[in-house]
Amino acid sequence: MTDELLNHPGALTGDVRPTASYALRVNGVERPVTDAWIGESLLYVLRERLGLAGAKDGCEQGECGACSIQVDGQLVNGCLVPAALAADSEINTVEGLPGAGGASDVQQALADSGAVQCGYCTPGLAMAVHDLLQRNHRPGEVEARQALCGNLCRCTGYRGALAAVQAVADAREAALEAELEAAERAAAAGPAAEHAPPAAAEPPHPDPGGELPLYADSELWHEADQLVPPQPPTAQDDDTLRAGGYAYPPTPPHGTAVPGAWTGPDAFAAPGGFPAPDAFAAPDAFAAAGTDPFGTTTYHDAGPYDGTVYATDGYGTDGYGTPYPGHDATPAHGIRLPEDENA
Ligand code: FES
Ligand code: FES
Repeated sequence: MTDELLNHPGALTGDVRPTASYALRVNGVERPVTDAWIGESLLYVLRERLGLAGAKDGCEQGECGACSIQVDGQLVNGCLVPAALAADSEINTVEGLPGAGGASDVQQALADSGAVQCGYCTPGLAMAVHDLLQRNHRPGEVEARQALCGNLCRCTGYRGALAAVQAVADAREAALEAELEAAERAAAAGPAAEHAPPAAAEPPHPDPGGELPLYADSELWHEADQLVPPQPPTAQDDDTLRAGGYAYPPTPPHGTAVPGAWTGPDAFAAPGGFPAPDAFAAPDAFAAAGTDPFGTTTYHDAGPYDGTVYATDGYGTDGYGTPYPGHDATPAHGIRLPEDENA
């Protein structure tokens, strides 16, 4: 080729260069190219002669990958391929990525994952991801990094692009599984199902996320009714009913000894109010063992509970057992209640 050029009559003056006419098949469409210098790159012809400017001109020397396209299913740098040599080949560019009239899933995933900043590398990256996923439906991270290592991004980095690879792989796998399941269901239903009227759609669940409160007159209430066998009436108040029918034990009156409940002389129960002489003096879980959970401190054990019941609410007091002026209906903490003497 070099000899031919040098021997060409106009080679030394530069006004005559060998040209050729050919057709490129780009994204499934035959595109004629006429009288083009045979040294023009495929990138140049696509962009300047055919108006397909998706592939970008970054370095023109095969370094940046911005011009990535597929020729006969191989990812190549369009800037390194003489266009005339691709005349019999199938060429795919970013304009041909399948996207139902919009962005392809790969392009959308790149955008969604934040892989696009100035966007100059994006068409090349999109082609590289597309090519990778055609060859490998479930690439690992190393495989993805290897596949994208020829595509330089000067703004964003590669985290988003790698995330996009996984996102598209996941989405395609899920779509395929759904398709297979639908096909299996159709096969199991048999040929008669093909002529059967379509099944009535199920009404949407009124609360798919389970976020609505349960009201006694709501649909959800009736659903809950079916799941939980009817319970004998209990001392439930309206709030309990609204909470879904769970039978909370009725709240005992103040000062009543509740089995298992804390009734000993706690920090607030000492006569005279807070602080109590010994906040851990009651036979609680720690004091019974004589140590704290870490086994380091020995607490004083006041001995077995003597059955004393103390007023437990703070209404009418300042919280430390001192009645507010005019609010003396409730005895202070630590005051033995006459009616509970024998509790
Ligand atoms: Fe082709 Fe940079 S323009 S690799
Ligand atoms: Fe600017 Fe990649 S987004 S070079």
